[in-house]
Amino acid sequence: MSEDILQTHKLLPRCEEELARRFTVHKLHEAADKDALIAELAPRVRAIAGSNVNAALMDKLPKLEIIANFGVGYDTIDTAAAKQRNIRVTNTPNVLNDAVAEITLGLMIGLARRIPQADQFVRQGKWTPTSGFGLLTELNGKTVGILGLGRIGKEIAVRCQAMKMRVVYHGRSQQKDEPYVYYDKLVDMARDSDWLVLIAPGGKGTDKIVSREVLEALGPEGFLVNVARGTLVDEAAMLELLQSKKLGGAALDVFEKEPAMDQAFWALDNVVLSPHQGSATNQTRNKMGDLVVANLVAHFAGEPLLSAVV
Ligand code: NAP
Ligand code: 8YV
Repeated sequence: MSEDILQTHKLLPRCEEELARRFTVHKLHEAADKDALIAELAPRVRAIAGSNVNAALMDKLPKLEIIANFGVGYDTIDTAAAKQRNIRVTNTPNVLNDAVAEITLGLMIGLARRIPQADQFVRQGKWTPTSGFGLLTELNGKTVGILGLGRIGKEIAVRCQAMKMRVVYHGRSQQKDEPYVYYDKLVDMARDSDWLVLIAPGGKGTDKIVSREVLEALGPEGFLVNVARGTLVDEAAMLELLQSKKLGGAALDVFEKEPAMDQAFWALDNVVLSPHQGSATNQTRNKMGDLVVANLVAHFAGEPLLSAVV
């Protein structure tokens, strides 16, 4: 009899097929009555595959041994509660670095050269012999400040260098093996940067780390790129500064609330908006799913986990 696992949201077919081949899978997201399903499964469920797992759900599943998070960011898992309950937690690092770095550069170029707006300009027939789209700005020669020079941040840095940008970074500590200038104060880095790229984890330690002060330091010629979590930014302040042109522009893949984001952003002409697409490619999401499966298989085989966070 295979182990009972709870899947919390839809996963790619390859991942779901692999899970079903190895385990007895119960899909919480498809249940008409989620509480009833959890109560029925309580005596049996030993693992969760997915995300959004709080202490209350852990307490409803007394046999729970492991949570295999689908994503490298695990801020929707109460890891402190998991630790207290001796529940292991894994994530999906590294396999998504390139995908996220690529979309970051895409969002930057899209914002700098106003690609979404230019596309609409052409489609709406506004391009005429006497009306061009206008002159914009470039990435080369500009300074990009990276908040979070980690696995993905490093891939973003390499790509920014390839775009002939000057790379600087901020984190809780300087990294001795990195060639880039380190700023121990985020506000100072924002003041000295043309672009501020956010790629640090979400959670208490980074909640609204990009404050109104940081945004004002980035200023009316500055551009913010958030491919981390919406929680890193004082979103109300960012919206106001974008509306008043005291912040030059923003490319946002993540928001305080998703997908029910603040619709005021939709009216802004100095933003590029993306629906949390960082890792959203077939090849990357399949690799993430493979890692979810591999961690669960390792756990139940008594072997070392591939990517443990708790
Ligand atoms: P990582 O390798 O752990 O890197 C995180 C970086 O953030 C580290 O350089 C760390 O440096 C820095 N950091 C952590 N806490 C900080 C703080 N309080 N203040 C300043 N810097 C801090 O993580 P990763 O694999 O690059 O992933 C980063 C995050 O990207 C994920 O957690 C996730 O939220 C987000 N993400 C988003 C998408 C998307 O679809 N948009 C996809 C994947 C990941 P120090 O330790 O020196 O502070
Ligand atoms: C995921 C992400 O899509 O990995 C992360 O942290 O933000 C994305 O890759 C998200 O976690 C939920 O599926």
